[in-house]
Amino acid sequence: MSNLIRFGVSIDKNLVSGFDALIERRKCGNRSEAIRDLIRRELVDQEWADDKIVAGAITLIYDHHKRELLNHLTSIQHDYQGLIIATQHIHLDHYNCLEMIAAKGKAAEIKKLADTLRLTKGVKHLSLNAATTGSGI
Ligand code: NI
Repeated sequence: MSNLIRFGVSIDKNLVSGFDALIERRKCGNRSEAIRDLIRRELVDQEWADDKIVAGAITLIYDHHKRELLNHLTSIQHDYQGLIIATQHIHLDHYNCLEMIAAKGKAAEIKKLADTLRLTKGVKHLSLNAATTGSGI
């Protein structure tokens, strides 16, 4: 037996037109696929808002020539070693490094790690991709 449920939804014509145009523009398949994506996105946002166990990827860019910066960033990561599941360091050019940190744990802790790294002097850019462990969606 299928786990799929079909349900009817009443939506304003203009809203559907806008949605269809968005689906076409973003090449996100048909309405059903697009609605499933929207629902999943909202559920993942709620996991973060509720401080659930989530997964996330932090990407940061910094100049490794900055005095003590590398030691500082490493020290912060050791403080969060229970949260960090993998790291990848890429030398972008002579000065700049790109580091990707995969984390799994309480949402607030991952945010705290990202904020601590972001506020470290010498970090040029940091982004946090708020993802999910996938178990709840
Ligand atoms: Ni490097």
